[in-house]
Amino acid sequence: MKAPLKLLSPAKSAPMPRAVMGIHRLCKAFTVNRTVVPVLEEISFTAATGELICILGPSGCGKSTLLNILSGFLQADAGEVLLNGKPVMKPGPDRCVVFQEDALFPWLTVEENIAFGLGGGLFRRKKVRAEVDRFLSLVGLLPFRDYLPREISGGMKQRVALARVLILKPGVLLMDEPFASLDAQTREEMQNLLLGLRETFSHTILFVTHDVGEAATLADRILVMGKNPGRIEADIQVNLNRPRRREDTDFHRFCRKLYERLRHQG
Ligand SMILES: Nc1ncnc2c1ncn2[C@@H]1O[C@H](COP(=O)(O)OP(=O)(O)O)[C@@H](O)[C@H]1O
Ligand SMILES: [Mg+2]
Repeated sequence: MKAPLKLLSPAKSAPMPRAVMGIHRLCKAFTVNRTVVPVLEEISFTAATGELICILGPSGCGKSTLLNILSGFLQADAGEVLLNGKPVMKPGPDRCVVFQEDALFPWLTVEENIAFGLGGGLFRRKKVRAEVDRFLSLVGLLPFRDYLPREISGGMKQRVALARVLILKPGVLLMDEPFASLDAQTREEMQNLLLGLRETFSHTILFVTHDVGEAATLADRILVMGKNPGRIEADIQVNLNRPRRREDTDFHRFCRKLYERLRHQG
């Protein structure tokens, strides 16, 4: 049996990493054919440590643009993003992104993909291997460690994508419609996996989706965005009990209201 890791693995009882994200009056416009098109207008909200916020909005309302600014891949025209009070200027390991399409290295195996962010050269080290084993196990992929991405299903690829960012222990997880291209059953499995992992790691999660049911299943809080330009139209605390079941009347009623709300933003 492998010795428990002290250095790399956060014990379940370890104090939560503080990851408060403050977003203040973000604005962003793109210039298309010499015309300035405003995309985000005065986006402000705070994400508390460990909070799971879904950003729900119609296609084209600026959700990915917002997430790209929060990750530091894109600069806002105005406003600021603070992580634990410090301005976010560029991408960093404290904010990891999972995209809709897997961004795995096709020539690396499942375990090599997961280990990649820890530094390829370190992979032979026992501690790193043990850590990779732990994350393979957490996402249910231990038997597939030697497979290449092309040899596994879409859902399994997203499990790898999740494990390879979780292993970096980011305070904030940014997710851009990560399960949107999966079939309904796999999507539900992935949602349950994410909620389970969240119990273990307590990340602050900003999860972009256009799917009302997904937002209602996952979120502590839902920010509904409208478009042209993208604005936050509603900030809704989700008080449904967990675990949430789609067949429950309360869940159904909540989704109907949310859907009505979203319909007016489309
Ligand atoms: N790099 C870019 N240049 C010009 N327009 C862009 C660029 N990125 C996004 N847009 C436009 O900004 C709007 C919002 O896009 P996006 O953030 O991808 O929306 P969502 O993720 O909500 O579907 C869309 O109208 C899109 O065409
Ligand atoms: Mg998008």
